[in-house]
Amino acid sequence: MRLQDRVTIITGAGSGIGRAMASIFAQEGARVLAVDVDEGAAAETRRLLAERGQEAASYTADVRLTDDVRGMITTAMEHFGHIDILCNNAGIGSTQSVAETPEDVWENVFAVNVRGCYLGCKYAIPHMLAAGGGVIINMASVGGMVGLKNRAAYSAAKGAIISLTRSVAINYVQQQIRCTCICPGTVDSPWVQRLLDEAPDPAAERAALQARQPMGRLGLPEEIAKAALYLASDDAAFITGTSLVIDGGLTAAWTDPGGDGPGPAQPASCGYEQRLHQAGGTSM
Ligand SMILES: NC(=O)c1ccc[n+]([C@@H]2O[C@H](COP(=O)([O-])OP(=O)(O)OC[C@H]3O[C@@H](n4cnc5c(N)ncnc54)[C@H](O)[C@@H]3O)[C@@H](O)[C@H]2O)c1
Repeated sequence: MRLQDRVTIITGAGSGIGRAMASIFAQEGARVLAVDVDEGAAAETRRLLAERGQEAASYTADVRLTDDVRGMITTAMEHFGHIDILCNNAGIGSTQSVAETPEDVWENVFAVNVRGCYLGCKYAIPHMLAAGGGVIINMASVGGMVGLKNRAAYSAAKGAIISLTRSVAINYVQQQIRCTCICPGTVDSPWVQRLLDEAPDPAAERAALQARQPMGRLGLPEEIAKAALYLASDDAAFITGTSLVIDGGLTAAWTDPGGDGPGPAQPASCGYEQRLHQAGGTSM
């Protein structure tokens, strides 16, 4: 058991990568507080863990809101007595160039991604200091490391998370608080599936999306969660301030400057990015 009795708060735990982290951390002995803005989704994650006999609680919080984040921290303290690990995973995306990004979209993407991480760190760290240490894992993205077309707010927010991670790491390195972030490539989470389901031919759309991946497939939420498990564990005792890229080689590949992202030239038939852009919605 690599996380025996470690109290872990995971935001965005009601879906995708966050739920996978809750599941894998609990398997390794962690006591999990599953947090999500979607009350039913957080409760379902708690139920899935409890069904396996694992200790878990759920809490409804919007990570943009100070009172909600303070409530999340208070709940963890009251329920478990201390906080060992905080995973700031909740995030939303955007699908516009900088000129096209409405100001409210910009503000909201920064509020969930950056302010959410900031508030989580701000209110968890005093308890970690009092307990003699802790681990923080922030969820960034390859979008914070390389230029992606039509991802202005999302890329800027994820870049800010990478910088915040370094700042927190150096501030508290003497106090035994480690802070790292993960930069996933495209991960087959419910979010991505929902978008594919909107296509006229979801299977063809999925095939086109996979074709631009160097490994010919998307990442799995569990693959991100296993890396988070490593970063949270004592095996990573000498790691802080690091951004861990988990993208199946996407950012290692040659970049087609005419394409929509890093990696091999995007097949012309892939309407995934175009549809997102036209929809002006949110995306990872
Ligand atoms: N899926 C990908 O391809 C991918 C790639 C890179 C980075 N990421 C990052 O991984 C994280 C998780 O993504 P996912 O793919 O599992 O997405 P997802 O949409 O499946 O899950 C995100 C969860 O966050 C919750 N959430 C959203 N806004 C919230 C808020 N204000 N407060 C609390 N909870 C909130 C949602 O309700 C949802 O349960 C995000 O930070 C995302 O940016 C995902």
